[in-house]
Amino acid sequence: MNKISMITILLAATCCCLSLVHGIEQVHISLGTNATEMIVTWTEPQKHTDIDIDAVVYYGRASSSFDQAAIAKSEYFKDDETKYTTFRALLTGLESDTQYHYKIQLDDKESSIFAFKTLKLDENWLPRFAIYGDLGYVNEQSLPYLKKDVEKNMFDVIFHIGDIAYDLHDENGEVGNNFMRSIESIASKIPYMTCPGNHERHSNFSHYDSRFSMIGDRSQPNHQDSLDKRINNHFHSMEIGPATIIMFSTEYYYYTYYGWEQIERQYRFLEKELIRANENRNKRPWIIVMGHRPLYCLKMGDSSCDHQTMERPEIRQGIRMHDQGERQYGLEDLFHKYGVDIQFYGHEHFYARMFPIYKYQMYKGKQSDNPYDHADGPIHITTGSAGNKEIHPLFNHLKEWVAHHFYDYGYTRLIFENQYRIRLQQVSDDQHGKVLDEIEIIKSSPQPHWMP
Ligand SMILES: [Fe+2]
Repeated sequence: MNKISMITILLAATCCCLSLVHGIEQVHISLGTNATEMIVTWTEPQKHTDIDIDAVVYYGRASSSFDQAAIAKSEYFKDDETKYTTFRALLTGLESDTQYHYKIQLDDKESSIFAFKTLKLDENWLPRFAIYGDLGYVNEQSLPYLKKDVEKNMFDVIFHIGDIAYDLHDENGEVGNNFMRSIESIASKIPYMTCPGNHERHSNFSHYDSRFSMIGDRSQPNHQDSLDKRINNHFHSMEIGPATIIMFSTEYYYYTYYGWEQIERQYRFLEKELIRANENRNKRPWIIVMGHRPLYCLKMGDSSCDHQTMERPEIRQGIRMHDQGERQYGLEDLFHKYGVDIQFYGHEHFYARMFPIYKYQMYKGKQSDNPYDHADGPIHITTGSAGNKEIHPLFNHLKEWVAHHFYDYGYTRLIFENQYRIRLQQVSDDQHGKVLDEIEIIKSSPQPHWMP
C-alpha cells in the first residue's frame, strides 16, 4: 500500500464521525527544521466541539501531481467566547530551492491550490527579507505594497516582529480571523515568521500561540516529538543563507504576572544559540536578532521607555527578578558579547535607524563615511510602522544616536548582496512605495569589527 492510500484510510477512520461542514482558510506557512521542511497552518473558525479532527496536506512539484502527503493535527482553541480550530502539518522530504504546490483536504472539502518555493540550504545563497512590526487588521497600510513586492518575487521570508492583528483576540477572535485572511495571499506563499508583541499578551499569549507555528528546536531537532511539542512561538532561531536569525520575546520582561522563569529560560536559549552561531560563523557570518520592543527608544508616552535616558532598562540592562536584587538577563551585553550584527525591533510606530551603538556610545564608522561599513557596534533598526490602528506617537528628546527617522507607514527590505554585504531599504507606503532610506551594511570577516 502506498503512503497516500494509507493516509487516506487513516483520515477516513478519524473523520467518519464528523458531520460538521468545515472551512479551510487563513492558510499560512512557516519554516520547518530546515529547507527540506515546511509547516502549513490554517484555521477553521466555526465553533467545533473539542474533538480531534485530522486533515491532509497533499503536495508535489507540479500542480497536477500531489505525490506527497502530510497529516495535519488539529488543536481546538477556546477562550471566553472565542472558539476555533487550528490545523498544522509538517511537510517533509522537500527538495531545497524547489517550487511546490499544495492543497488541503479536510473532510469532504478541498482547498484551492497554493504554492511556495523552498529556501536554499547553501550558506552562500543570498536571501531577501521583508521585516516589520505592528501591522494589524484595521489600517493595515503596508499590505498592498507588500503584496506587490511578493508578486514581483522580491522576498524569500517575511518577518513580522510582534503586534500582529490589533488584537488577535478582539471581537471573539474575529479580528484575528480577518487579519489571517488578509495576509493569506502572501503568507501561504512565503514563510511568515513571527515573535510576540504586547498586543499578543491577552490570556497569556494563548491566542498568538494557537495561530502560529514556529519550530523551537531547529538547531537541535527532536523529530521524535510531535509537531505541537516542538513549537515555540516566543523564541526560535533559524539559519538562512549567510545569516543566523534569532527571534525572541521582549514581552516576557513586561508581563511577569504570567511568570518569571521564562525570562531565564529564553536567556539561556539565546546564549546557547549565539555560541552555536559563533562556532558556525565562518559559514554564516551574520547574526541578526528580532524582538518587539527596542532597547533604545524614541517613543514618548510609553511607560516601558525611560524618557530621561531613552532606553528600556529591563531589556537593555536587565530585570530585577521578582522586583528585587541586581538586574539580570540584560540583552545589550549579551548581544554585544556574541557579536550580533543587526537588531530589528517594532513597537514604536515609525522607522528609526540608529548609528551603531553600545552602552550609549555611538560609532560613526572608521573605514569610510558609512557608519555601517565595518560597524564598531551593533546596528539597531526600529521598523514598527507597517500599519496599526493607533496613531503615530510623538518623537521627543531625539538623541544624537538616532541617525534617521520618519513617520511614513512602511516596511523594511533586507537584501543580501554577497556574503559580507547587506542592503537595507525602508519602503514608504505614504509615498507609494518610494525607498526613503537605504544603507549598506558591510564587513570583511565573519566576526564584527568590535569583537576581539
Ligand atoms: Fe507594541
